[in-house]
Amino acid sequence: MEEKLNKVLEAFTKDLEGANDLAELENLRIKYLGKKGEVTSLKKSIAKLPKEEKPKAGKLINQTSSKIEESLAKKNEEIKAILLEKKVKEETIDVTAHFDKYESGHFAVINQTMEELESIFQNMGFDVIEGPEVDTVKYVFDDLNSPKDHPARSTSDTFYINEDVLLRPHTSSMQIRVMKEGKLPIRMVSAGRVFRNDEVDQTHSPMFHQLECLVVDEKVSMANLKATLETFIKEMFGEDMNLRYRPHHFPFTEPSLEVDVTCPVCKGEGCSSCGNTGWSMELLGGGMVHPKVLEACGIDSEKYTGFAFGLGVDRIAMVKYGLDDIRLLYDNDKRFIEQF
Ligand code: DAH
Repeated sequence: MEEKLNKVLEAFTKDLEGANDLAELENLRIKYLGKKGEVTSLKKSIAKLPKEEKPKAGKLINQTSSKIEESLAKKNEEIKAILLEKKVKEETIDVTAHFDKYESGHFAVINQTMEELESIFQNMGFDVIEGPEVDTVKYVFDDLNSPKDHPARSTSDTFYINEDVLLRPHTSSMQIRVMKEGKLPIRMVSAGRVFRNDEVDQTHSPMFHQLECLVVDEKVSMANLKATLETFIKEMFGEDMNLRYRPHHFPFTEPSLEVDVTCPVCKGEGCSSCGNTGWSMELLGGGMVHPKVLEACGIDSEKYTGFAFGLGVDRIAMVKYGLDDIRLLYDNDKRFIEQF
């Protein structure tokens, strides 16, 4: 029996050396330890041995099958390790591959412009304030001296949530919010989205952006308004940008004005995009805060005066980057967005 077992073990060892994958190992297990395997048949043959030889033969057979099992398990681990190493090598990720194709996002032009404007005013000592896009009729119209029959309140101009609440059609409601806080003097800007029931065209959109500016203090004059506007326009567009003031009417300022700047396309020479005037489209409206507005906010209009203006951020971006259509700012066309 011992001899037979040694031969089996020898044959197994040879077979094991040639086995290279898990399937071959399984075949070897069946060949030697399976139901009809070589060790199993020897085990069965014990029955035919003389009684006194049986225990020794049994012990030897068990030792052999343990050895075979151990060798199989060891080889199994080895093969698995080799397979894993191979897999890891094959799956190695080259973190530098396609590195220059990696695209990172950036702020949209409108947000870039809004931040630039805010930082210009911040440098001039203004506070930057955020306000709600949905506001009350009182803040948006009543307290801004725009009474019930004012045309701007019409549903054809404005999106109403209900009779008293609406999407703000301008950022001027922020003037009221700040003045009602009661802290004087005031020097603030507030930028954000505004909404109007407007037809879309090259220069209009039902949603656009404004930046509101308000200064209230003793002895604030039109000269302060002009100086502030000129400083900011030159900071934003460069020294050779000129401003044109036109008289206008707003219910919340008296006197009121509108401002255009040098046409960015022809630099003032006159061209088709400015209708040969040499001036841009209207960029902002402003004026001296109407005494009625100050009084509505509990501010003594005999002692305090103020100026205010609201500018179109989208139009500022159009002038700055020479865009001829406001829709470019909202179309999400990657060819456009990627240029900024
Ligand atoms: N709210 C005005 C508009 O949307 C712009 C404006 C005009 C703002 C005069 C002001 C101002 O602060 O004083 O057309």
